[in-house]
Amino acid sequence: MNTGDKNIVVGKPLNRVDGRLKVTGGARYAAEFPVAKMTYGVTIQSAIAKGKIAQIDTKAAEQVPGVLAVITHLNAPKASGEKGGGHKVQVLQDNVILYSGQHIGVVVADTFERAMYAASLVQVRYDEEKPTINMRENLAKAYLPKGKIPRDEPPDLAHGNVNQGLAAAAVRVEQTYTTPVENHNPMEPHATTAVWQGDELLLYDATQGIFSTQKKVAEVLGIEPEKVRIMSYFVGGGFGCKGSAWSHVPLAAIAAKQVNRPVKLVLGRIQMYGPVGFRPETIQQVSLGATRDGKLTALRHAGTSQTSTFDEFIEPVGKSARMLYASPNIETSHRLVKVDQGTPTYMRAPGEASGSFALESAMDELAYALNIDPVELRLRNYAEVDPSKGLPWSSKSLRECYKLGGEKFGWQKRNPQPRSMRDGNYLIGWGMATATYPTYRSPASAIAQIMADGTAVVRSGSQDIGTGTYTVMTQVAAEALGLPVNKVRFELGDTKMPQTPVSGGSQTAASVSSAVHLAGNQARSQLLQLALADQKSPLYSSKAEDVIAENGSFFLKNKSSASETYQAILARHGMKMLEARADAKPGEEEKKFSMHSFGAQFAEVRVEPDLGEVRVTRWVGTFGVGRILNAKTANSQMIGGIVYGIGMALMEHTLTDPNRGRVVNHDLAEYHVPVNADVPDIEVLFVDEQDPHINPLGVKGIGEIGITGTAAAIANAVYHATGKRVRDLPITLDKLL
Ligand code: MOS
Repeated sequence: MNTGDKNIVVGKPLNRVDGRLKVTGGARYAAEFPVAKMTYGVTIQSAIAKGKIAQIDTKAAEQVPGVLAVITHLNAPKASGEKGGGHKVQVLQDNVILYSGQHIGVVVADTFERAMYAASLVQVRYDEEKPTINMRENLAKAYLPKGKIPRDEPPDLAHGNVNQGLAAAAVRVEQTYTTPVENHNPMEPHATTAVWQGDELLLYDATQGIFSTQKKVAEVLGIEPEKVRIMSYFVGGGFGCKGSAWSHVPLAAIAAKQVNRPVKLVLGRIQMYGPVGFRPETIQQVSLGATRDGKLTALRHAGTSQTSTFDEFIEPVGKSARMLYASPNIETSHRLVKVDQGTPTYMRAPGEASGSFALESAMDELAYALNIDPVELRLRNYAEVDPSKGLPWSSKSLRECYKLGGEKFGWQKRNPQPRSMRDGNYLIGWGMATATYPTYRSPASAIAQIMADGTAVVRSGSQDIGTGTYTVMTQVAAEALGLPVNKVRFELGDTKMPQTPVSGGSQTAASVSSAVHLAGNQARSQLLQLALADQKSPLYSSKAEDVIAENGSFFLKNKSSASETYQAILARHGMKMLEARADAKPGEEEKKFSMHSFGAQFAEVRVEPDLGEVRVTRWVGTFGVGRILNAKTANSQMIGGIVYGIGMALMEHTLTDPNRGRVVNHDLAEYHVPVNADVPDIEVLFVDEQDPHINPLGVKGIGEIGITGTAAAIANAVYHATGKRVRDLPITLDKLL
């Protein structure tokens, strides 16, 4: 049995099914649930980066009218500790200060304003120690991390002999590139509403992972995961900082228990610089060796990034170098330096975003050293198989991306000479870079219910962090069920629903669509079996393969008169609904294929020669990312990624006081992200790509690839415009004067 053509909705540019709720305020975010007897939690944060709390005076705070509790390490309940899931959290168990911004207390009051005011009255005296803040001054302490990088790969990996390859090269590029700390700034800050019902905990949380949050909170509180229910129906952006449950989440639960009332705890914008992760600073050395005709004889990518003193986070900057270009000699390594700051975390394309700045800048430098066009240089080193694993690609359309992008952009009209292109007084630069991101997938489950009224409800835990999960899964479900999209409701965001992975690593579309597709197919098949076995059905004793499902009816392919609606079948069987559950998980494909998305970024910049001001004026991005589930939301994801990359290239830079470890530009007035005036029209094109190996629908995931290569394309365009190679992000005007 198949669904008919009229039913094909996967891929269509549908408007968001939750769009109306969002623009009318009907979409409820974590801090917006009306709960009876609500109270408000405000955290107190450490003003120093290292040392101990010598004294904490809460008397004045406790006397503020409406204050219900001031919780510090002196009176906090014992937490049972952690077994290692996610990042380590601090929940007021001792007086030790590990970083500036660490939560050292929670004030709970009957109004937010009273809690804020009381928090400001808490007096803290510290025994301060001199912190280690600056990674660059402590490179001698760099060490080999204990952990792995994604896909369970070791931090160091080599094949061939890079030193020999470099020695044999006719041309070499050996340079150091650096990227600063950057902070996530989702529109919605971190927020948790904690409600105890007896010994059961309900948490409305702004999270990219309801199930990982459930596990983490249970672990920290020392209760069974079944006693913790996480709900997260709408999330106002995550970008990685909501990919793990940070300290404030269990703290909200602890506070709610203490005051025996629900507690809402929202972090202010300023509070999001420190205790909830950031993209770590990196220093990256790239060495490229090539023959005169541009074949890479050696590629080395060595990255060092910061981590905290109490936890390990590796920014896997060398991951792309392992697979992007063919070379007999490739070596990648990762080192960490511990500093007295919070633990860094995933930020949109962790590893690939900062790593591609270095690698793709170095490739541009090599193209100039060889006098070969940058696209041509990449084609001469095109990897026909994964060079590190020796595996074939499940699919790869990078050649088509270069070609299509180059044509749309007009790349062949480029004069490679720096400072050769002008528009009046302005210097014009054209730059390009390769984009790439892995395709991840994890086990996921879904339940599909066909109702007596001919509608359907499909549920799968999961999250919609603004990417469009509700919309694309409605499309996948409708197509599998043989129903129009307006008859299907897709629900997510509750740990009572079937299990799914964290929405990180761009894996939600691939993982959840596999389960939703399977559950929808099973429900439809089971319903058809009821009809085929039923003498009263016009379809009785037909063969399943002769039946088409469309618009909520089954038809015989060759005899359209013989048909029956879903409602009629359920009614005759006296069923209120028919339910099917599916568990989908990856198989052996990852052992047989190397699975990645690819793309090409083409950028035009305009530089004011006297002031060094850089504007991005034109963009073409072309991508091969498997099957597109929704042309409109997919386009938005790519634009979002590229805009994020423009911020990375030109603006974003978290500045930390080197003596006290405090972030000094901790708000949107001082931490600059692109606004509309900074963003040109961005043209995004998808190469039609079928991937039969990767997962049932051939979906690769598109949340992160858009940022990869973006900063390098801009840096390369800036070099083309000005003749100045900036290897230190962001490219601010002082670096061009
Ligand atoms: Mo994404 S940075 O993997 O949440």
